[in-house]
Amino acid sequence: MPQYELNPPLNEADLLPDPLAQFERWLADAGGAGLVEPTAMGLATVSADGRPSLRIVLFKGLYEGGFCFYTNYESRKGEDLAARPYAALTFWWDRLERQVRVEGRVGRVPPELSERYFHVRPRGSQIGSYTSRQSRVVASRDELDARIAATDRRFEGQEVPLPAHWGGYCVIPDHVEFWQGRTDRVHDRLRYVRDGGGWRIERLEP
Ligand SMILES: Cc1cc2nc3c(=O)[nH]c(=O)nc-3n(C[C@H](O)[C@H](O)[C@H](O)COP(=O)(O)O)c2cc1C
Repeated sequence: MPQYELNPPLNEADLLPDPLAQFERWLADAGGAGLVEPTAMGLATVSADGRPSLRIVLFKGLYEGGFCFYTNYESRKGEDLAARPYAALTFWWDRLERQVRVEGRVGRVPPELSERYFHVRPRGSQIGSYTSRQSRVVASRDELDARIAATDRRFEGQEVPLPAHWGGYCVIPDHVEFWQGRTDRVHDRLRYVRDGGGWRIERLEP
């Protein structure tokens, strides 16, 4: 059990005025800390009937003030977001004893952005995303592999087109909390809350 002995305090004076700039600074620290997947984040959504679900996705950058990720629009998370366009994100960087929590409204990124990112991915990933009906039940691995092979043959020698069911979302934050582990579990928690055109920073009890 970690004792949170790194113990660097997180003070109000340490924070940049903009939470997105502060996030980029912490993400750069995480990138330099030798973590396996510093961009992995928990993404929580809620279904139309109020049931939460949570999964890991990869953070793929900031766009117009939002935290972006890419996925299947017809997946369970896609259905949740169509019904309730709000989400929460959580990053946990164990070696730094830091957590970041984000909450806000979710929108789709423009198709041009999804198109650009889709084609940067390796061809195998493009074929997988094109074929997979993410979150649906499939009879067997063999059936899925056969469908993937069929997509591969269909687009042999050609670019795989961006499928209509795949693309990015952006979480436009109204709350961003920076958590730094401290000794005796008296952690530092500083939260930005959107306030008119700017941000208010408040300290939360641990
Ligand atoms: C480290 C890691 C990264 C992942 N990145 C993504 C991602 O960027 N996009 C995605 O759709 N699924 C990603 N997944 C898979 C999701 O966790 C999840 O299985 C999938 O999106 C289906 O979720 P849903 O059925 O709740 O919609 C990742 C899983 C792990 C463990």
